[in-house]
Amino acid sequence: MQIDIPLSRRGLMIGAAQALTALALAGTVVATETLPKMTVTRDPNCGCCGNWIEYIKAAGFPVEVLELDDVMPLKAKLGVPDALMSCHTAEIGGYVIEGHVPADAVKRLLVERPKAIGIAIPGMPVGSPGMEVPGQTPQSYEIAIFSAGKQHVFARYRGLQQV
Ligand code: CU
Ligand code: CU
Repeated sequence: MQIDIPLSRRGLMIGAAQALTALALAGTVVATETLPKMTVTRDPNCGCCGNWIEYIKAAGFPVEVLELDDVMPLKAKLGVPDALMSCHTAEIGGYVIEGHVPADAVKRLLVERPKAIGIAIPGMPVGSPGMEVPGQTPQSYEIAIFSAGKQHVFARYRGLQQV
């Protein structure tokens, strides 16, 4: 038996699929239901880690939280360079996400799937997600993409905006 879809309807479906693909390639949209689980390892005494976890959950990521009093050994084990270390460390889709990284940068990484260990924002720039300080202007900051022994700029942001 053949399933008949009217031509106009079929065109509409193909059009929608193409539009979705274009958006995904632009790095702006990953359907929430396709986001893999993220594991975040944090120091339970760090408040900004909790803020980032709430932010990334609100962005649609399914999150599992692990609490460790010392997160440094995990960073070293995962290959996060010393110069790129921040507070919490997340793992998702085979990548490491270090620090207060905006959700759309994580989604772009998962769409583009470059050969790398992960992306990182060293330190904790004011205005990055989870580091908002009322009355303080968001800083400009860079997201580094890193592999063993090399790194380059993945994106530049100010606050939540790519610049
Ligand atoms: Cu932090
Ligand atoms: Cu943190």
